[in-house]
Amino acid sequence: MNKQEIIDILSNNSKNNWLFNKANQIRHNFVGDEIHLRALIEFSNVCKRQCYYCGLQSTNKEIERYRLKKEDILFYSKKAIKLGYKTIVLQSGEDDYFSSDKLCEIIREIKKNDVALTLSIGEKSFEEYKEYKKAGADRYLLRIETTDEKLYQKMHPNADFKNRINCLENLKTLGYEVGSGCLVGLPEQTINSLADDILFFKEIDADMIGIGPFIPHPQTPLKNSSSGDFWLALKVMALTRIELPNINIPATTAMETIHPNGRIIALNSGANVIMPNVVSFDCQKKYEIYPNKANSTNAEQYKTELEKRINEIRRFISKDKGFRKK
Ligand code: 5AD
Repeated sequence: MNKQEIIDILSNNSKNNWLFNKANQIRHNFVGDEIHLRALIEFSNVCKRQCYYCGLQSTNKEIERYRLKKEDILFYSKKAIKLGYKTIVLQSGEDDYFSSDKLCEIIREIKKNDVALTLSIGEKSFEEYKEYKKAGADRYLLRIETTDEKLYQKMHPNADFKNRINCLENLKTLGYEVGSGCLVGLPEQTINSLADDILFFKEIDADMIGIGPFIPHPQTPLKNSSSGDFWLALKVMALTRIELPNINIPATTAMETIHPNGRIIALNSGANVIMPNVVSFDCQKKYEIYPNKANSTNAEQYKTELEKRINEIRRFISKDKGFRKK
């Protein structure tokens, strides 16, 4: 599709079942009916950044900060592996306590198992990305958040849009599978820039794209802004599937948080990945990037229920690591 066609679809207020069905069909044809589960380990909510939308931003003094110990991280990853997960995702705020050495030790330990490992820990130097890769990391998630440079600079004080692009390029160069994505519904974000976001994902040939609606957090500068629209976020996701037919696209937690059936709707509109949380309920609650984040109380029970819901829509859980099928 060209940019105007994307804009036309995004501008139309209807739910656009045609688009969602089309994306679902393309998902079926290119990546099949299997759903890849990624075990998410949120290992630190300490963050030096000040992203205006995020509850973990450093000026939020009300949040109780935590850092998991290496042993705890390994405990959760073992637990996930036992439950059958084939990918471990280590996610945190930008927390300098976790030096390259500390992280590489953890990566090497997890990679002794037959699993893929994804990092989602923010902007680092080329050298650091190189070290994680050498230690065994396979994939990296770094959302661009928005390709509207002006809006990006507004939303991220003390950060640099160009550096974020640079990080994504470095990750590609180093041979990671690269994930990116955007928020939908940031204040002042335009349909035009959402179309640019989709074209950007294509331009960088992203391997994974996560898209979710913006949800205002009470302890951030955007506390009085309104939430992003679920259907608009779903359209951006469906269009991304159409433009990048063979990539991995998660049904994001933010989708599930603002719509009671959000995850299933997303799985039927182009998504093929779910990222269940495997850390303790207490940590999940403290990892509050936005309020009312959909959580799981018990990892075992949660996985059983998930499998049931996946089977109900005639899909099944993949038994492999779920790399991009090029
Ligand atoms: N609403 C929705 N998504 C958010 N994220 C951060 N804060 C919010 C929010 N308030 C998303 C960002 C980030 C990802 C881990 O969570 O896109 O990249």
